[in-house]
Amino acid sequence: MKLLITGGCGFMGSNAVRYFLKNYPDYRIINLDALTYAGNPENVRDIENDPRYTFVHGRIEDETVVEKIFSTFRPDVVINYAAETHVDRSIMDPKAFLTTEIFGTHTLLEAVRRHETSRYVQISTDEVYGSIADGVWTERAPFDPSSPYSAAKAGADHLCLAYWRTYHTPVIVTHSCNFYGPYQYPEKMIPLFIINLLENKKVPLYGDGGNVREWIYTEDHCRAIDRIVHDGRFGESYNIGTGERMTNLELTKKILLMLGRGDEMIEPVKDRPGHDRRYAVDPSKLITSLGWKPDTAFQDGLAKTIEWYRTHEQWWKPLRNGEYLEYYKKQYATAR
Ligand code: TYD
Repeated sequence: MKLLITGGCGFMGSNAVRYFLKNYPDYRIINLDALTYAGNPENVRDIENDPRYTFVHGRIEDETVVEKIFSTFRPDVVINYAAETHVDRSIMDPKAFLTTEIFGTHTLLEAVRRHETSRYVQISTDEVYGSIADGVWTERAPFDPSSPYSAAKAGADHLCLAYWRTYHTPVIVTHSCNFYGPYQYPEKMIPLFIINLLENKKVPLYGDGGNVREWIYTEDHCRAIDRIVHDGRFGESYNIGTGERMTNLELTKKILLMLGRGDEMIEPVKDRPGHDRRYAVDPSKLITSLGWKPDTAFQDGLAKTIEWYRTHEQWWKPLRNGEYLEYYKKQYATAR
């Protein structure tokens, strides 16, 4: 089978490329990645010489590059990981999110339609449903996004399902809770907090720290996508969740404890505008219809993640310079 994985140099995409090469020795993978700040060739350094793997530098909204890939490589399956993903950046610069999420998804869907590709899987987020005070969102919940990021993802997801209804393009949409694990860019909460503490810096906790997020370890997410790529039903959406929900303060305390630090390392900062209070998804459809379940308890995944960042300073050190610092200066100028 030939897989086109877009965004394969990003956090989730690179984990997926590695996962499919490891678990499916006869699959070929082409990775189309724009190499933005979050797409890092170091994320796939260990597999770049694998003869089953090909890298193409380009953007998903670039019709020429996408057409060339489809006509020469002829993928059987497309998994679209390519996206701008950080909510705080979307608040500062929404346009980049619309370009990648909406126009990029559209370009891929058109190519899938033209080339009669067998399957297209859209990697999306639970954030499209918006905040939920109690209970869980099922796949039937209406979208109610709060940030430019989640609004752009919601738009792309609607487009995917509209292509199914209008053209019978074989799409499947996934809505996952928050990912964590190795290779996550250190602007997201978990790697940011771990690295700050490793560098003896405080961790910036937004607002009262009472916002609830649900967390999935990257390997468990890859296994969910594996099930969906092979047996998911066209025109359907699948929630991917673990039930591992906690407030940001609870999560911060777990990280502090594992790194042997105390509450004095918490620096409360002004809240993110439009900050959703609680996300929670119901993954029963994926569990009952495709037989998936998460394997990694949060405590274990977090310990593995901390260990990875502890032993991969050469990976994250360069990301803490230059562009990263500029971004944080701007971010905290608005956040405090
Ligand atoms: P994040 O990792 O940005 O993911 P998302 O916004 O997609 O859920 O943030 C996770 C939670 O952590 C979110 O509620 C915002 C909060 N947060 C902080 O408190 N401090 C930070 O520095 C960051 C980046 C996030």
